[in-house]
Amino acid sequence: MIARSFAAALAFAAAVSFAGTANAQDVAAGEKSFNKCRACHQVGETAKNSVGPELNGLFGRKSGSVAGYNYSEANKNSGITWDEAVFAEYIKDPKAKIPGTKMAFAGIKKDDEIKDLTAYLKQFGADGKKK
Ligand code: HEC
Repeated sequence: MIARSFAAALAFAAAVSFAGTANAQDVAAGEKSFNKCRACHQVGETAKNSVGPELNGLFGRKSGSVAGYNYSEANKNSGITWDEAVFAEYIKDPKAKIPGTKMAFAGIKKDDEIKDLTAYLKQFGADGKKK
């Protein structure tokens, strides 16, 4: 009985210490989710701007700052610096967060999926290499 509750306590501690940290599973799920973005966005070392700007080094980047990409005024003037919280809000409903954006995407509503997508995108540094 004692051994059993000790094991349960250990499992609980492990679960708590992994919460909020990206793991390989999140990244793999996020890569799948990114298929919804691929029609318009690229990431990685060969990423180029297409319908939308490339998304390398997104977290920490200012909105509207990729050279050579023709952003809407709404995006350029949003004053956003992309971090996890603001990205989560934006990707749920892009047109609500940046009214007038030309990103034609309905949004991702599930928090878990947003978390996975964040873990996937966070891997890529500004040079497109995985950190
Ligand atoms: C139909 C095309 C399309 C799809 C699909 C799409 N986007 Fe976009 N995205 C755009 C366009 C166009 C812009 C530029 C918006 C502007 O200038 O108003 C943009 C802008 C962005 C920005 C702001 C970048 C910056 O430098 O300020 C982020 C972040 C972003 N998209 C993430 C995503 C993610 C993540 C997905 C998938 C879940 C996605 N987008 C799906 C077209 C798309």
